[in-house]
Amino acid sequence: MNDKQVTFDDLVSLSKRRGIAFPSSDIYGGIQSTWDYGYLGTEMKRNIRELWWKNVVQKRDNVFGIEAAIITNPSVWEASGHVSNFTDPLVDCLECNGRFRADHIIDDECPECGVKTKFTDERNFNLLFKTYVGPVEDDANIAYLRPETAQGMFVNFTNYQNTIRRKIPFGIAQIGKSFRNEITPGQFIFRTREFEQMEMEFFCAPEESKEFHEYWKKERMDWYINELQIPKSKLRLRDHEKDELAHYSDATADIEFNFPWGWGELEGIAHRGDFDLSAHATGSGKKITALNIEDNEHFIPHVIEPAVGVDRILFAILCASYDEEQLENGESRILLRLPESIAPIQIAVLPLSKKDELTPIAKNIVEDLREKFRVEYDETQSIGKRYRRQDEIGTPYCVTCDFDSLDDQAVTVRFRDSMEQERIKISELRNYFSMKMNV
Ligand code: GAP
Repeated sequence: MNDKQVTFDDLVSLSKRRGIAFPSSDIYGGIQSTWDYGYLGTEMKRNIRELWWKNVVQKRDNVFGIEAAIITNPSVWEASGHVSNFTDPLVDCLECNGRFRADHIIDDECPECGVKTKFTDERNFNLLFKTYVGPVEDDANIAYLRPETAQGMFVNFTNYQNTIRRKIPFGIAQIGKSFRNEITPGQFIFRTREFEQMEMEFFCAPEESKEFHEYWKKERMDWYINELQIPKSKLRLRDHEKDELAHYSDATADIEFNFPWGWGELEGIAHRGDFDLSAHATGSGKKITALNIEDNEHFIPHVIEPAVGVDRILFAILCASYDEEQLENGESRILLRLPESIAPIQIAVLPLSKKDELTPIAKNIVEDLREKFRVEYDETQSIGKRYRRQDEIGTPYCVTCDFDSLDDQAVTVRFRDSMEQERIKISELRNYFSMKMNV
């Protein structure tokens, strides 16, 4: 990946132009800061989820997956503190009536109309989305869309303790949608009202919790650098000040990314102490503890929680991989220097011309490679334009079949980053790419 500072407009324009994300319900004028992912964005999100799951769940013998419901008994959110505490400070501009998060206002200036110091007093705005369960819309039937996936893990702690046949420390991990009625969503897919989280609650003995907090901070940072190949220079770890901490947190460190507008939260790694299990024990009237075998004492485990948004990672990866390059012939090209594991298309197969002789060779190659790799076939436009398009969507390898291929049964492999080319026998292609991508 590169060190260039991309602009916000570069990314939104590329995303719409190439099919990464579109404004949701676009033909009706959209709905504020809500996005539908196109075929490339969908594939990239899948790849991000898979890499996270592999790293956090599959490669460990003490982390277990869960798929909890989005709509739960509302008592969950009363006990967790979200009904009373999950708020942002809201102010209205007296000039233009725009509504903003008070903590997002800089120098007392309205972000909409630019007028200074003309705001209402701050009031707390609850971010929970409400709905009704069943046909009667009254207070007895209110339910909430989950604002974090985490509570699904806390309320299932005892179920897991009884079924996984393991003592703590262990983790429960989940990937799924969360919903927050954000006052000011925006900055493309950075902050939206509907988003997808990847969270893991790691339950441990209180005396081990600080050590595990440090452990997960390091593990998560290493993942971004080694697996997602985000340059170290674009990442930093920042401990929260006491007045920034969420209502459930004893200590939180954010992994921050240098977004086009500056440093911003990518992932939070919180020490939630025993806040949630204690709250649910009180709320439900059930005992929620673990047993220390040595002294036969029950105790409430502490929790370390790495939590991140899939959409936010996708945005960070787009920022980190976007590059523009001047070519020797005076032209320029845009490219996404995506890692092979994230690239939506890994290999593009491009016959030099649409002539009948080349099509079967190219299509046979596609069929052969498709079993193992994400492959696209493209025969439209000139070869130069097709290379540019593949560069823009981050395809690391193009395979070009030309008329010599009919005689030598070989093709040209072109590399996205260096634009260098290599001639490879068709029969060796599958092994060649397996070696290149280490799969
Ligand atoms: N369970 C803890 C929790 O939800 P958070 O810091 O509020 O903590 C965790 O959220 C992560 O979820 C954030 O670091 C961010 O990556 C993502 N996230 C939170 N709100 C978001 C939003 N409105 N849009 C997109 N992603 C969001």
